[in-house]
Amino acid sequence: MVDESMTVRTRLIVNGQNREWILDARTTLLDALRDHLGLYGTKKGCDHGQCGACTVHLDSRPVVSCLTLAAQVAGSAVLTVEGLTESSDDLHPMQRAFLACDALQCGYCTPGQLMSAVACVAEGHAGSTDDIREFMSGNLCRCGAYQGIVQAVAMVHAAGHGRS
Ligand code: FES
Ligand code: FES
Repeated sequence: MVDESMTVRTRLIVNGQNREWILDARTTLLDALRDHLGLYGTKKGCDHGQCGACTVHLDSRPVVSCLTLAAQVAGSAVLTVEGLTESSDDLHPMQRAFLACDALQCGYCTPGQLMSAVACVAEGHAGSTDDIREFMSGNLCRCGAYQGIVQAVAMVHAAGHGRS
């Protein structure tokens, strides 16, 4: 049962669209995206800020959405993996690089990896393998696809594709 004393009207711009909800003030951005908008691309891994599976961009900066309260960031622009591209025929350069570099196995961590990887290039942290590893260190991959992920980020950086 909803405790109405804890609800709050919250507006966000999600993947370029204005969205407004009445939410429990304790709702995380991750749960708001998945449970209220049906954007299941953003994954829930640890739900404790330790795996990076839930990474999205908030006003163009990567954040772990499981530790971000939706109401706290009202008015912000959120980009999820669904917003990286308009259709499956027009993959983002980072998505194409992940495919080319075999940078995934089960794919569970991949949406979060992609969002961090795009930010890594856009923010200028992809100049060396060490820099990429450092920036991407908050995104864990149980399948151990790290080598391909680093290669993909370096490939996009080298090609000069920084769009987010
Ligand atoms: Fe958010 Fe793991 S689910 S960091
Ligand atoms: Fe399986 Fe990363 S591809 S967890």
